[in-house]
Amino acid sequence: MIIILNFGSQFAHLIARRVRDLGVKAEILPFDVTAERIKEINPEGIIFSGGPSSVLSKGSPRPAKEIFNLNIPILGICYGHQVMTEMLGGKVVKGKSREFGKEILSVLQKENIFKGLKDEEIVWFSHGDQVEKLPKDFIVTATTPGCKVAAYKHKAKNFFAIQFHPEVTHTKNGKKIISNFVLGICKVSKDWKIEDISKNIITEIKQKVGKDHVLVGISGGVDSLVAATLLHKAIGKQLHAVFVDPGLLRKNEVTSVATLLKKQKFDLHVVDASKLFLGRLAGVTDPEQKRKIIGHTFIEVFEDTIKKQLKQYDIKYLAQGTIYPDRIESAEPTKHASKIKSHHNLTLPDKFGFKIIEPIRDLYKDEVRKIGAVLNLPHDMLWRHPFPGPGLAIRIVGDITEDRLNILREADSIYIEELKKAGEYEKIWQAFVVLLPLRSVGVMGDSRTYDYMVSLRAVDSVDGMSADWHKIPTELLEKISSNIVGKVRGINRVLFDITQKPPSTIEYE
Ligand code: XMP
Repeated sequence: MIIILNFGSQFAHLIARRVRDLGVKAEILPFDVTAERIKEINPEGIIFSGGPSSVLSKGSPRPAKEIFNLNIPILGICYGHQVMTEMLGGKVVKGKSREFGKEILSVLQKENIFKGLKDEEIVWFSHGDQVEKLPKDFIVTATTPGCKVAAYKHKAKNFFAIQFHPEVTHTKNGKKIISNFVLGICKVSKDWKIEDISKNIITEIKQKVGKDHVLVGISGGVDSLVAATLLHKAIGKQLHAVFVDPGLLRKNEVTSVATLLKKQKFDLHVVDASKLFLGRLAGVTDPEQKRKIIGHTFIEVFEDTIKKQLKQYDIKYLAQGTIYPDRIESAEPTKHASKIKSHHNLTLPDKFGFKIIEPIRDLYKDEVRKIGAVLNLPHDMLWRHPFPGPGLAIRIVGDITEDRLNILREADSIYIEELKKAGEYEKIWQAFVVLLPLRSVGVMGDSRTYDYMVSLRAVDSVDGMSADWHKIPTELLEKISSNIVGKVRGINRVLFDITQKPPSTIEYE
């Protein structure tokens, strides 16, 4: 097993993900775990994650010093690179400028973690501080024009450090670097297999739930569908599925999902709560407020549905399709990590009456899809683009009204339809339209218009944690744009978003 010490990075879980992709078990531990605990676990390697702190600040996180005496290979990434420097006697200074984004790395030693790399590699940086002086017995192994010590290693021991992030997809050969460390240096065996995971989850659900009844919320997305199917396989009739229509779903979504689940013989209750949701969201423009209101209202509707439609069952559990990235990005801000968004699945009121069960909480999106395939779910459903819990509410920047929802629904369905027709849809991780709160002047026929503008988002990603904008052919973009403007009343301008995550996020709110 490989242990990742988390110094508060948004990417610590991405590192774990990359290690799991190699077929190796990975576990994330807090940075201050004791050396004794690490000895007990007896990992084959340790990775120090990045983090938002500066090693130059008082009280910034440090791992236990004895970790360096355990004779276990260590790879320091970003903050981990700097903390290793400081603790072993080198020097870190404040850089003249922040290095942020893609850079060309000159690889000085193409061995060990850099085995098989080229002389120059594209890597992704995000740092302010720099290593100025190496600890004794360490040598520089890679450099960039802005960062003299972009990577280094110990002359004899298996200690390596890199200033850039190999875990994000922007680093072209990042996987290779992690694989060189995990398989080449740490020599771990590959025994983490996706096929066994679904069996284990089903067994765990059976053991946990026993004879109790479970309520599962269906959102229409892949995650809740896979979670519900695993539960259905494990406990059959003890599972009750509620599909709340918050009035924030895409065109025709309620009907298509409900039809699929009924075919699979789910005890399904479809609840139209659109009036309640839209009433509560009226006039709310703050994204976190929207997410909180939606999260709380969902729970209320579930409770109400149980009272009215499921009172004959003794429901003890609420199941959710929470996946690993939802948990990371909803993390409460701590001294060493900042909060990005509250994913609505986790924004539960304190006095919540159920126990929570989250069958796929440790999985990433692509793992969820692989499990879905093992469970024989229809290809189309599994390969639908992810759709966020708060739905179209976070794709309407500003006020949410029926009118705006309808405008967005129409535009979105044209966009998706055109992508499908052109064979582009399945090449894209997630594509959708966002309605902006801006209006601009246009001319249609011979008349002036003063209408909304929409932004088309299309991103390539592996797990939603980092993303690049998808290069849609320009002719197709033009077709989509003229179709939207021509067919959807209320829109006279179409923009195409060309921002990566980070620094943006995929959704707009
Ligand atoms: P962001 O916008 O954070 O999105 O870059 C990353 C991925 O997560 C989805 N997303 C959500 N999923 N509940 C969910 O179940 C949520 O509240 C939520 N917010 C964002 C988003 O669509 C993307 O796939």
